Amino acid sequence: MPLVCREFRNIALMGFMGTGKTTVGHLLSELLQFELIDTDRVIEQRTGKRISEIFAEEGEASFRRIESEVVRELESVTGKVISTGGGTVVNPVNLESLKKHSLLACLWASPETVYERVRHQQHRPLLNTPDPLAKIRELMLARAPWYRAADMIVGVDFRHATEVARHVAKSFRDATRRH
Ligand code: S3P
Repeated sequence: MPLVCREFRNIALMGFMGTGKTTVGHLLSELLQFELIDTDRVIEQRTGKRISEIFAEEGEASFRRIESEVVRELESVTGKVISTGGGTVVNPVNLESLKKHSLLACLWASPETVYERVRHQQHRPLLNTPDPLAKIRELMLARAPWYRAADMIVGVDFRHATEVARHVAKSFRDATRRH
């Protein structure tokens, strides 16, 4: 008998920028026939602005407020793959909210892998600094305790997204069978 009875109506993907949450999210949604909800895309649709514009025009605090609003609204959904932003679970309120309904799967990569994946991309305001690799290391270290709160952690440095998605889908099926 589990001490805490969790409800796994959805899967939430968490983890640092560039770990492949969106790609794995798409694959998972196909495998499970679940709709994909990407919290960053919901925020962009709601505000009519790109994430980078929200950061530049309103500041990070405003982005985080909208992000929390979106996360809270997800408490009522079922049968979704939720792809979160890299900083979403750093707010304990968001983490607890997601835990109410989702199996939390964290994708984990080394700072070097993340850097290789994001170095030619321009849309991540937090990495818009002279030394992005140092920033990645700093943020990852600070966020590690939150990422470790996931139900499962999958290293993605040496795994193809397909393998990651299959592994998470299997764990989700096992977890829902047991509950
Ligand atoms: C952020 C990650 C981004 C986006 C925003 C902030 C973060 O999402 O939410 O730029 O704090 O790490 P991705 O992880 O999908 O890039």
